[in-house]
Amino acid sequence: MDQYRLNRLLTAEEIASIVKGLADQISRDYEGKELILVCILKGAFMFLSDLIRHLRIPVKVDFVRLASYGAGMKSSGLVEITKDIETPIEGKDVLIIEDIVDSGRTLQFLKERLGLSNPRSIKICALLDKKARREVQVEVDYLGKEIEDIFIVGYGIDFNENFRNLPEIHYVIPNAPKKE
Ligand code: IMP
Ligand code: MG
Repeated sequence: MDQYRLNRLLTAEEIASIVKGLADQISRDYEGKELILVCILKGAFMFLSDLIRHLRIPVKVDFVRLASYGAGMKSSGLVEITKDIETPIEGKDVLIIEDIVDSGRTLQFLKERLGLSNPRSIKICALLDKKARREVQVEVDYLGKEIEDIFIVGYGIDFNENFRNLPEIHYVIPNAPKKE
């Protein structure tokens, strides 16, 4: 993608306030419990690292790496696990941390798979949701913000592994002259 333009969707301040709001809600709901956060790599790493700093409950963190998107802007629809969690979750309260929900296939797959280990509860926290693109039914228990059907990057989220470092969230306009 040589020619593109990035247009800002959310500032760092807006993201911070969304993340803090989610953390407050989670801290309230899980008060007195110990929570295991399962972060989906790679996209959710920045969201997770900001979120946990605001949590006021005991938490453990683990990571899973799922591949569904392949290269480019379209999902293949197939989900593959390339790195599994290492923490036992049987009888535990689990919260999946995801960057953005699209077809819902990634979360449907992971929720089902983690469910096989018999956690006490399993819920989903996602920063962004493109609800209009849902293909399978999956409930997001903690949602930062619903967005339109646009391709976004930044704040951990990539296009072909680029732009993860950007502190803000932008949408990509392909075939447009690059804006410096
Ligand atoms: P789903 O399985 O179709 O719901 O796709 C979810 C995954 O696709 C997320 O974990 C992201 O990695 C990726 N994804 C979805 N939308 C975007 C986007 O707008 N930009 C970058 N990655 C995205
Ligand atoms: Mg992802």
